Amino acid sequence: MAQRIEMQICLGSSCFSRGNRDVVAFIREYLKRNHLEDRIIFKGARCMDLCSKGPNLRINDKIIEEVTLSKIEGILEKEFGNIK
Ligand code: FES
Repeated sequence: MAQRIEMQICLGSSCFSRGNRDVVAFIREYLKRNHLEDRIIFKGARCMDLCSKGPNLRINDKIIEEVTLSKIEGILEKEFGNIK
């Protein structure tokens, strides 16, 4: 059985001011478009104490920093391109 993946984006104020809102919208749309909503649990998280590197995204145990709107598609393709 395929493993479920948990992905969390920091919703703390610093990451918010760095644009995580647009990233959240993009991720939701990406998961939907690629029918990954059942495989990948996407949630908001509290501050990850890495504010100066935000917006921050966690995929299982891996933290990815500086997740901007211009980079998010490449990140998702790298992480999930092989399962979609
Ligand atoms: S607000 Fe996102 S790491 Fe602190």
